[in-house]
Amino acid sequence: MKFFIDTANLDQIREAMDLGILDGVTTNPSLMAKEGIHGDERIRQHYVDICNIVDGDVSAEVIATDFEGMIREGEALASLHPQIVVKVPVIREGIKAIRYLSDKGIRTNCTLVFSAGQAILAAKAGATYVSPFIGRLDDISSEGVELVAQIVDIYRYYDFDTQVLAASIRHTMHIIQCAEAGADVVTCPLAPILGLLKHPLTDIGLEKFLADHGKK
Ligand code: E4P
Repeated sequence: MKFFIDTANLDQIREAMDLGILDGVTTNPSLMAKEGIHGDERIRQHYVDICNIVDGDVSAEVIATDFEGMIREGEALASLHPQIVVKVPVIREGIKAIRYLSDKGIRTNCTLVFSAGQAILAAKAGATYVSPFIGRLDDISSEGVELVAQIVDIYRYYDFDTQVLAASIRHTMHIIQCAEAGADVVTCPLAPILGLLKHPLTDIGLEKFLADHGKK
């Protein structure tokens, strides 16, 4: 199971790298804006900065929604750094763009996926990753993790190469549930990742071991 961090914040990316468990980064236009990164030049430089911090894949999202615009942006993003994976929304033109980019050897992450049908099309088009958004489904009283499990089952049945990247993770339990569902990758903010470490019995046990070690 791969761990990506879902942020454009360089300090948090460094912190996750420092932990030694980071396999990549996902970003989106909202995460870029949250860090105050605006304008094409500045955004592209920020992707390069992220690639220079991490060893793994870095998702960079296209803004265009037409086929020509998507492939133009996708090729430009992919040329920035070998670690870039082009993030494309699962709309009609997006599926065509994923097919085109995939045929050119450019890796893609099919984003904004909310149904098994969308995930099937992403895999058929040759996406490297498919990103079901589990938190946003939970927000509307749907079961986000169930979608992850459903996509994993379908992909296994047909032996699709597309990796299931569980996105829109809101809390630590989502990570455990995605692991149980067989997600290939989880992408989440730093806090839910650090939440995996927490257990009161670990703290109590460590405190006792240290106290006993100090006894004569
Ligand atoms: C990552 O690829 C997604 O863009 C991100 O996980 C969306 O998360 P959100 O639903 O918390 O905005």
